[in-house]
Amino acid sequence: MFISRRQALVNTGISLAATTIAGCATYGKPPAAPAATPGTAATPNDAAVTVKAIASTADIPVGSGVIVDDLVITQPTKGRFNGFSAICTHAGCTVAEVVGASINCPCHGSSFNLDGSVANGPANRPLDAKDIVVQGDSIELA
Ligand code: FES
Repeated sequence: MFISRRQALVNTGISLAATTIAGCATYGKPPAAPAATPGTAATPNDAAVTVKAIASTADIPVGSGVIVDDLVITQPTKGRFNGFSAICTHAGCTVAEVVGASINCPCHGSSFNLDGSVANGPANRPLDAKDIVVQGDSIELA
C-alpha cells in the first residue's frame, strides 16, 4: 500500500493530537494510591481490646500449676491464681514442668516456687509476673 507524503503527515498529526488529548485527560488528577501491602491493612477490630482466655480454673490444680504456651499459671491455695512468664530467669530456657509445688527448668536445674520465687538456682531472680484475671471459670490475660 502506497501512502503519500501528504497522507503520512496527516496521519502523524492525528496521532500527535490523540496523544496530547490522552495526556490532558490525566492532568490534574491525584496520583493513584499505592497498592496495599498484604497483611498490613488495618481492620476495624484493631483498636478493640482483645481478651484471651488461657485456661479454665478447673485446669489448675490446687497447690500446683500448669504451663500454657509461654505462661505458668499456679494456684497455691484454692481460688488464688498467679501468672508468670515461662521463661527461666537464669538463661532464657522455657520451664518444662510443674511438679507439685515446684516449677522446673530443664536446662540447668533451676526451680521456682508457686509464687514465682527461686527455690533453687542457678536462677537468682523470680519468674516474671504476668497479669491474669479470673472471669468466672475462665483465666484470662489482663
Ligand atoms: S535457663 Fe533455666 S536453669 Fe538455666
